[in-house]
Amino acid sequence: MEKEVLEKYEKARKVSDEILPFAKSLVKEGASILEVAERIENKIKELGAKPAFPINISINEVAAHYTPDINDQTLIKSGDLVKVDIGVQVDGYIWDRAFSISIGQENQLIKASEKALEEAIKVVKPGIKVFEISEIIEDTVTSLGFNTIKNLSGHGLERFNQHAFPSIPNSKNTIKAEIKDQVIAIEVFVTDGSGYVKESSPTLIYKFKQNKPVRMYEARKILEMAKSEFDFLPFTKRWIKGIPPLKIDMALRQLLEVDSIVDFPVLREISGKKVAQSEETLIVE
Ligand code: CO
Repeated sequence: MEKEVLEKYEKARKVSDEILPFAKSLVKEGASILEVAERIENKIKELGAKPAFPINISINEVAAHYTPDINDQTLIKSGDLVKVDIGVQVDGYIWDRAFSISIGQENQLIKASEKALEEAIKVVKPGIKVFEISEIIEDTVTSLGFNTIKNLSGHGLERFNQHAFPSIPNSKNTIKAEIKDQVIAIEVFVTDGSGYVKESSPTLIYKFKQNKPVRMYEARKILEMAKSEFDFLPFTKRWIKGIPPLKIDMALRQLLEVDSIVDFPVLREISGKKVAQSEETLIVE
C-alpha cells in the first residue's frame, strides 16, 4: 500500500479509536438514539474525519441499517441489545467497526460474536481464503450454541466504497478468493433465532448509483449532495438540510424510480430474535 494511502487509513483508525469509547459511553438506558447518533457523527467531524455512512443504531431483532430520522423518539431501554456500527472516512478511506451492548444484563450472543471475531482476526494473513475465515466464524458461534446470520457478510473496503469485493459470509461456503494487499472488515452477526434477516420497513439509508435526468428540483439537489457532500457513500434523510421533509420523501422516491440511488431497508431477523454484531477492520498485507 502506498505511504500516502496508509497514512489516511491510519488517521481513520485513530479517529475510530477515539470514537469507540465515546460511543460506548453514550449507549445507556434512557438515551435517545437520535442524540447518540448525532453526537457520534459530530465528534467524527470534530476530529477531522467524516462518517462513512450514517451511524447505524440497530436494536434487538433489527440487525442493521437502522439510523434515526429527525423525528425519532426511540429511547434505549433496559434489556435492549444495541448494535452501533460506525464508519470513519478520511479522503474516502474507510475504517468500519461495530460493537454491541446489552442494557442492564449480560448477553451471551454478544460474547459469542466477540469471540468469533477474535478467532477470525487471529487467522487472517495474506493468502487466507474467504471460506477459511467464514468457517472459523460459523464454527465458533455454533460451538457456543448460537447461529450466525447466514445472509450477512463481512466485506472488502475500497476508497469511497464501503462494501467492496470480496464478500466474507458468516456461514460456511466454498469461496476460494484469497485475501491479500487489501483492507477488509470482518463483521460477525450472531442470533439465537433462525439465522436470516429480511429487508423490512422503514428505509432510512440511501446511496448514489448513477446520474439520470429527474424532474423535481429537490431530487436534483439531493443527487448533487449525494456526490459532493456525501462522497458517493451512504447517506440518510437526517443529513439533507434545507429541504422540507415531505419534499425529501418525494424526491427520494423519484430518484429510486429512475434508478439514480439505491436504498438500504432495515434488516430484521426473520424469527424476531435478538441479534448481536461485532466488526473490525484489518489491513492485510
Ligand atoms: Co461493515
